[in-house]
Amino acid sequence: MHDEIQEILISEEEIQVKTKQLAEKITNDFDGKFPLAIGVLKGAMPFMSDLLKRVNTHIEMDFMDVSSYEGGMKSTGEVKIIKDLNTQVKDRDILIIEDIIDSGLTLSYLVDLFKYRQAKSITIVTLLDKPTGRKSDVKADLVGFEVPDAFVVGYGLDYEEKYRNLPYIGVLKPEIYS
Ligand code: PRP
Ligand code: MN
Ligand code: MG
Repeated sequence: MHDEIQEILISEEEIQVKTKQLAEKITNDFDGKFPLAIGVLKGAMPFMSDLLKRVNTHIEMDFMDVSSYEGGMKSTGEVKIIKDLNTQVKDRDILIIEDIIDSGLTLSYLVDLFKYRQAKSITIVTLLDKPTGRKSDVKADLVGFEVPDAFVVGYGLDYEEKYRNLPYIGVLKPEIYS
């Protein structure tokens, strides 16, 4: 699997250090509140796990499974709910957890949805931000790393459902997807 990676962009250790810093910020920001942390499946799973185990205040966890890429390279532009929350959003402080913001279409869809459901506040934390891909004006409150316009995989991010289990963020060799 590793020989299909051209370059490691963000190492396992760098991810862990950053995750710890983000968790401290979240601990401070939500101290005394009881936020609903919503992981966006499937990509956010490894980051959510590493992040929230370091948050030192009460949080509730839930998951939403949405998809717009259907395994491929480009967003279809249409966000599909595959699994909705089990929890009421009304009057809750929401913490959306994402692995990456690219076009921003997934997040702007979720932000609109949670506003419609009358969330009290909405905070977005993303491990990666790819500003060059943006097609909506959504912005994260907390960002781990900015990434260049390359096809990145690992630590939750897939290409055709592979590479999510890499412990680092890497760039896929072009021959794998062309
Ligand atoms: C990926 C990624 C983000 C979203 C970002 O998810 O995990 O959720 O796309 O792209 P955007 O900003 O252009 O919307 P995907 O839809 O591939 O589903 P997955 O998490 O199950 O891989
Ligand atoms: Mn995703
Ligand atoms: Mg995907």
